[in-house]
Amino acid sequence: STNRTFTMIKPDAVANGHIGAIINDITTAGFKIVALKYTKLTAETAGQFYEVHKDRPFYADLVSFMSSGPIVAAILEKDNAVEDFRTLIGATNPAQAAEGTIRQKYAKSIDANAVHGSDSDENAAAEGDFFFTAGERF
Ligand code: CMP
Repeated sequence: STNRTFTMIKPDAVANGHIGAIINDITTAGFKIVALKYTKLTAETAGQFYEVHKDRPFYADLVSFMSSGPIVAAILEKDNAVEDFRTLIGATNPAQAAEGTIRQKYAKSIDANAVHGSDSDENAAAEGDFFFTAGERF
């Protein structure tokens, strides 16, 4: 059924000039843009967004990296959105990402991995709510 996922184009992909190419890949794959924002996380807001990872060894580096430069946040809609978006972006570690996936094409490392994709419908809703009010969704 039609549902929503949440994505960020991460600081590495923004800095490397890949915003347009990544949005093109996303819309060509059939995702409709419901909300879209060019913004920047602070260490505090990145820490809140990734609170689920706070006990993982990579948390401090993740928060530092995600607040290091501007990002693009978006809510996307499609049949089977969460799973199909994770297929489109490929494995978390770009070295393991399938040919043609966004991370295989644009990511450099497991930290600088170009894009975020929600891992469940529940997290997609919470992550979208973190960035967008009701009036920012169309
Ligand atoms: P993402 O799934 O968007 O959000 C958590 C991020 O932590 C993940 O992307 C990776 O960029 C980063 N990360 C770094 N090391 C790891 C790891 N060992 N396992 C999972 N994620 C990691």
